[in-house]
Formats: sequence, structure tokens, C-alpha cells
Amino acid sequence: MSVADAAPLAGRHIVLGLSGGIACYKAADFTRELVKAGATVQVVMTEAAEHFITATTLQALSGRAVFTNQWDARAAGSMAHIDLTREADAVVIAPASADLITKLAQGRADDLLSLMCLARPIARCPLLLAPAMNREMWAHPATQRNLAQVRADGAEVLGPGNGDQACGEVGDGRMLEPTELLADVVAFFQPKLLAGKRVLVTAGPTFEPLDPVRGITNRSSGKMGFAVARAAADAGAAVTLVAGPVALDTPRGVRRIDVGTGQQMFDAVLQHAPTQHVFVATAAVADWRAAHPAERKIKKTADRAMPHVEFAENPDILAAVARLPAATRPYCVGFAAESHDLLHQAREKRERKGVPLIVANLGPATFGRDDNVLTLVDAQGERELPRADKLTLARQLVADIAARLAALEPPTSPTIAST
Ligand code: CTP
Repeated sequence: MSVADAAPLAGRHIVLGLSGGIACYKAADFTRELVKAGATVQVVMTEAAEHFITATTLQALSGRAVFTNQWDARAAGSMAHIDLTREADAVVIAPASADLITKLAQGRADDLLSLMCLARPIARCPLLLAPAMNREMWAHPATQRNLAQVRADGAEVLGPGNGDQACGEVGDGRMLEPTELLADVVAFFQPKLLAGKRVLVTAGPTFEPLDPVRGITNRSSGKMGFAVARAAADAGAAVTLVAGPVALDTPRGVRRIDVGTGQQMFDAVLQHAPTQHVFVATAAVADWRAAHPAERKIKKTADRAMPHVEFAENPDILAAVARLPAATRPYCVGFAAESHDLLHQAREKRERKGVPLIVANLGPATFGRDDNVLTLVDAQGERELPRADKLTLARQLVADIAARLAALEPPTSPTIAST
């Protein structure tokens, strides 16, 4: 399971290019993913791609007639290579074969796809490439040289992945899966508000063992924390996610550390916090743990006596990070999941934990759900982020945090114009 927003590409027009390779079979699914995400999709195929998948399939999935050659008379003035990119928000080539990448590196233009890439308005129509090839082709110095050139010319390279290849070999060069490609395309369009920043996020519940088979936990799904991690990564940050036991996929590009107990979460966070710019504590850390978990399963006794469990309080991770010396203290953001008196509790919690910002939400109304309402509580007052899916809210929260960081940074000294 992964966190997603409803229509992240609404209003975007994508030209999807296919060059020849077995990964063309994934392009059908990728087209669907783009359309489901709200994009309009215009497919352009090379002749080689038509050996692997038919234009009919892609036409049906995109809802638009596919272009396959530069002599197509449908485009105005028969100028498909010009027209197709003028309205496009991006050209995404998936799969991008070794041959196609070579053509792009050299500026060759002997078929519609390469011709269209060369003729696109480079300043406002970015080019994203999803390479797909055999591992030896991928590793070849010629391919790597050509990739370095297309990157230098401004192309963004997505992946490739690693694993089993259609040829039977195993290694680098697999095209990313359609959902991974979609996540990368969505991320590409996000403003890079946290570029150069390191962000640490906690997420999910913790699990405090009572004995080897039982424990105390809570109903946090981790979705909000994973959404914050993804939104921060999409905004250009280097993100470390310390996750309690949850069944969620790691957002792309995020470094994940899995923990079980509150103490393990505390140790992982305190190890990394001093090098971070931002710490967002979304985890629902268990307040109490068994002081002495039983080493063996606690059994029912003949007299039906209730087991006695002595509790100990878990360390407060957020408060500990907020107490780090100023030079090593990240900007701290807490969450408050309450069942009643939301704002009153959130204000009190903000002061008690010594953090500049608390994000308040109603716990029982949000645990496990895909949407939420958040209220940002700081020293000045409150601001509500109205009901939306958790990734949309996370992106708004990340934008808010980025603005707060920017306001804290010393103003850059004005450049003195020479006269
Ligand atoms: N938190 C934490 N470590 C803990 C408990 C809480 O880092 N041991 C963080 C949470 O991740 C959240 C904030 O503190 O960002 C508030 O958590 P919450 O459980 O709402 O507050 P508590 O301090 O546990 O207070 P209470 O349970 O009394 O409401």
C-alpha cells in the first residue's frame, strides 16, 4: 500500500514517447497511470516500438490517436514534430532505449520521436527518460557517456531499476515499474522548496512487547508520516523516515529505518537528529511500555489470576529533540492526535514540548483513513488546512515548513551594483 493524492497530474499534458524495447509492455500500464492521475497523454512511438506493442492499444488507453512518423498529415501543416510539444508540460520517454538515448545525445533527428525532442521548446518542455535495456548495454561506457551528455543537456533520467531482465540476466537496466514512474513524474513537477535540506520524520505506531507474542500498540496507520516523508522528498529534501510497524511502501528516494519499540525509535531519532534541518514527529509513540516484558508467553493459570503488568513511561522523542543545543537542533514540528478539546490540548502540548509548530488533528477520526483535516498551531495562532487526502495535506505542510525555515534564515547580503 502506498500514499497517493487524488489527481496529481490534473491539467498536465504529457507527450509519452516509446522507443523499441521489451519494456514497451509496461508503457500500456504507465499510460493508464498517467490518465488516472489526471493527465492528458499523447503517445508518440518509434517504428521499433511498434514491434513490441501496437499503436491501437496505446490509442485506446490514452484516448488519442498515436503518432508514429514525421510524415503524418494529421498535424497542422504536417508538422507533428513541432506541434506535439508546444502544448506539452513534459516529454516522457518510457522506454528509452540505448539507441534513442544515443540519438538524443548526438542531436540526431531521423525519426519523429528524436526529431520532436530536438524541436521541443527546451526551456519550458522538460524531457524525462526512463531507460530500459540489458545490463551490459546499460553498463557500457558508450551508454554511460551518452547518458552523461543527455543529463548535461537538461534531461532527467528516471531509474533504471535493478533485477530480473527479459533476456534472463539480472542487473541494472530494467525500466521502472509504472507506479514508480508515475511517482517520479509527479515528484518532478513539485516545487523544490526544501532543496538542500535534510528532513527526519517519525511515522506509525510503536509496539511495546508484554511477552514474546503480545504487546501494546495503537491504531496509527503511518499514512500521514509516510505522506510527509514523500512530500518532503518530492520537495527536494534528503529524507530519513523512522517507521514503526506499518504495512506501507517506502516513498521513492526516502531512506527508511524500521523500528519496533518507542525506545528503538528514540535511539534512531536521537542518532540522526543533530544533522537534520527539520524534524517532523508524526509517530503515535506508545506512552507506556511493560517495565519487564516476560521472556516467555504469559499463560493462564489454574486459579484464573489476572497477570500483573508493571508499566514504565517511554521517553518523549519530540521533547528530547527540541531540547538539543541550538546548533544541532532541527526545526521541530509535532503532531497532536486528540479525541477532544483539540486546540486547547494542542496549544498546551506545543508549550510543554517546546516546539515552534504543532499540527493538531482528531485521532479517532483520522487513524487509517486516507484523508484528514489539520490545524497548524504556532505561537501566533492557528491555521486550518481543510479536509483533503493526506498527501495533499502533507504537501501543504511541507510548503508551510519551508516558508518558516526561509523566514528564519538570515537575509542574504544585497549585492552592491558597481556604477
Ligand atoms: N511524541 C514523541 N514521543 C513520545 C510521545 C509523543 O515524540 N514518547 C510526539 C508525537 O510524535 C507527536 C507529539 O509528541 O508529535 C504529541 O504526541 P501525543 O501522543 O499526542 O502526545 P503525548 O505527549 O503522548 O501526550 P498525551 O498522550 O497525554 O496526549
